[in-house]
Amino acid sequence: MKKILAAAHGLRGAIEVPGDKSISHRSIILSSLGDTPVEVTNFLAGADCLSTVECMRALGVAIERAGDKVLITGNGLRGLRESENILDAGNSGTTLRLLMGLLAPQKFLTTFTGDDSLRRRPMARVIKPLAQMGASIVGRNANRNLPITILPAANLRGITYAMPVASAQVKSAILLAGLYAEGKTTVLEPAPSRDHTEKMLAAFGARLERSGNAITIYPADKLTAPAQIEVPGDISSAAYWLVLATILGGSDVTIKNVGVNETRTGILDVLKLMGAKIELLNVRTSGGELAADLRVVSSNLRGVEFGGAIIPRLIDEIPALAVAAAFAEGTTVIRDVGELRVKETDRLAAIVDEFNKISPATFEATDDSLIIRGGREKIFAECNTRADHRMAMSLAIFGAAAEGVALDDADCVKISYPNFFAQFTE
Ligand code: S3P
Repeated sequence: MKKILAAAHGLRGAIEVPGDKSISHRSIILSSLGDTPVEVTNFLAGADCLSTVECMRALGVAIERAGDKVLITGNGLRGLRESENILDAGNSGTTLRLLMGLLAPQKFLTTFTGDDSLRRRPMARVIKPLAQMGASIVGRNANRNLPITILPAANLRGITYAMPVASAQVKSAILLAGLYAEGKTTVLEPAPSRDHTEKMLAAFGARLERSGNAITIYPADKLTAPAQIEVPGDISSAAYWLVLATILGGSDVTIKNVGVNETRTGILDVLKLMGAKIELLNVRTSGGELAADLRVVSSNLRGVEFGGAIIPRLIDEIPALAVAAAFAEGTTVIRDVGELRVKETDRLAAIVDEFNKISPATFEATDDSLIIRGGREKIFAECNTRADHRMAMSLAIFGAAAEGVALDDADCVKISYPNFFAQFTE
C-alpha cells in the first residue's frame, strides 16, 4: 500500500504505543514451557509476534488470542512435539533465533524458513554456539542462512561462550538451549544487550546468575509459569513520537506506559544529550519490567557523537535518531553500528539512500558508522521503505517534520506497530 503524508504541526495530548515486541515474543515462548495457563495482556499483535504464536502452536502448545490478550497453556518444559510442517518465522529474527535455541536440544526434527529478508540474514552466529553444545544443525549457504534444519538431538552439554557481537537474540538462544543441557551454560556479552529473556526466565523459576558481563544458566527440570504477564509498551515504537514531538515546534505529548528497562533506554540518554526535554513520570514495575509515562516537549537539538556500549541499548532506534540528528544544529556521528547492515534490510544503506532524498547531502555512512550533518534543506520526496517497518516509520516522521513524503509501501509497519498510521493521522 502506497502512503502519502503531509507536513505536520505540533503534537499535543496523550498517546499509547502497542506492547513491547521483544517481551511479547518471550511471553509466548516461556509460557509455552510451563504447564499452567498464562494470560498475557497488552500483547503486541504484530506480524512478528504472531509468527511466534504460529510456531508454538505447530509445536503442540494451546494458544488462544483475543485482541491484545493471549491465553497460553503449555505442556511443560519437555512437552513440545515435532511440528508436522516447516516452521515459518516470517520476517522475525527474534522468532527464528530464540526458537533455534529452544529446539536445538529437542528429540525431534525441526525445519525453519522465513521471508525474503530473513532468508538473507546471518544465522551462523546462532548455529555456531549451539553446535558447540552438541546440536546438529544444517542450513543453506554452508550453514549460514535459512532454510535451516535441526536434527533430533542427543543430550547437549553446557558451554562457556564469548559472543563476538552483542546480540540479545543469540544470547537468548544459548540460554534457552542451556535449560536442557548437561551442566551450566555461560554466555559472555561484549556489551549489555536487552535482558528480557533473563528477567522472564528468572520469573519462571529458572536458576540464572549474572556476574559482570557473564550470564550463567543451570539446567531445569521444570518451569513454573506465573498466572499473568503484563507487557509494557514498546520504547522502540515510542521512539517515533519522542523524536517527532521533539522536532515539531509546539509539541507537548505524554506517551503512556512505556517499558524503560535500562538495557533499552539508550534513546532517552542520547536525545537528552542532544537537548531534548523528556520527563519520566509515574515510574513503576509492570510484569517484572520497569515502565513509565514519557512526557516530551519540543526543543532545539544539537549534534552529538556516540558509540560503543550504548549501541545495543538503542540499536533499533538509530533510524529515528538519525531523523532527530537531521534537525539538530551541527554534525552527529554514530559509531559501531555495523550490525545495522544485517537487520531487516541494510539500514545504513537505506538511511543514506532514502533519507538523503528528503534532506540531500545530509547522511553519510562508512562500514560501521553514520554521519549526519544537521540543519540542511528538506524537500518533499518519494521514498522506498524496503519493506522494513522501522524504515517506514522513520521516513514517515521525517517527512511529517519536513515537507511531506510519499512511501511506496507502508504495510510493513504491521510487523511491530499495526496502528501506526491510524495514530499518525489522528
Ligand atoms: C531483539 C534483539 C535485537 C533487536 C531486535 C529484537 C530481541 O537484535 O535488534 O529487534 O528481541 O532479542 P539482535 O539480537 O540481533 O541484536
